[in-house]
Amino acid sequence: MNLYKITFSPTGGTQRAADRLVEGLGGECTAIDLTDSRFQFSSLAFTPEDIAVIAVPSYGGRVPAPAIQRLGTMNGKGARAILVCVYGNRAYEDTLAELEDTAVLAGFHVIAAVAALAEHSIIRRYAAGRPDVEDEKQLQTFAQKIQEKLAAGDETKPNIPGNRPYKKYGGVGMVPKPTKDCTSCGLCAQKCPVQAIDLADPRQTDKETCISCMRCVSICPQSARKVSSVMLTAAELALKKVCSDRKEGELFL
Ligand SMILES: Cc1cc2nc3c(=O)[nH]c(=O)nc-3n(C[C@H](O)[C@H](O)[C@H](O)COP(=O)(O)O)c2cc1C
Repeated sequence: MNLYKITFSPTGGTQRAADRLVEGLGGECTAIDLTDSRFQFSSLAFTPEDIAVIAVPSYGGRVPAPAIQRLGTMNGKGARAILVCVYGNRAYEDTLAELEDTAVLAGFHVIAAVAALAEHSIIRRYAAGRPDVEDEKQLQTFAQKIQEKLAAGDETKPNIPGNRPYKKYGGVGMVPKPTKDCTSCGLCAQKCPVQAIDLADPRQTDKETCISCMRCVSICPQSARKVSSVMLTAAELALKKVCSDRKEGELFL
């Protein structure tokens, strides 16, 4: 039996939640990075004995499109999947349902699902500092319960929330731009999950391709990529009411 940790985590929040869950499941795992646009995901060879933790962030209550596309090229061969959706304290709506459908189509057998919290990757003041100590404890407990289900040989499908058809998502329309501090080092272009930044001229971004994931903003060594502060303030105000109460993680077995 191999344990896989398959994550799409542009700014690290999804990764942190997945790491805590995987630690609780035994730790030793093969990590697969769904943000790596050059990797051949179809080359992975799963077996029915394997366990795959598949973790994605929620974007507008949906799974980010490149994660869907890359998961869709895998052949799960009946490997058992633990789905994880990580969101920034607004809502995750149809993310887990869409992830479930994608995993099943790719040949995985879904046995558990988790909704977890991480700092909002666009509006950092929401869910700031999460996953925190409480979240980490909760993820450990979730891992224990999943272990118990596995040990009991229970492979039933969990009741995962979400609507079909899924909520419509048209993007958030926030394309980060370089500031005067940009040195054109090209790190953002190399690490962009959708190759939206020109490798030859990193000051150029393809607006249509950009998914507003904020990877470039979070990794720039000069802190020289930003989204419009006007748009950011407007989004912060619009989300204030729904994002201000503390949401808690959930486990579906
Ligand atoms: C484009 C975009 C859309 C998002 N939409 C939502 C959302 O609908 N609900 C929510 O609670 N958080 C939302 N978030 C916040 C992320 O789900 C959350 O911060 C997640 O932890 C980001 O994952 P990462 O740190 O692995 O990149 C959104 C973030 C981005 C970049």
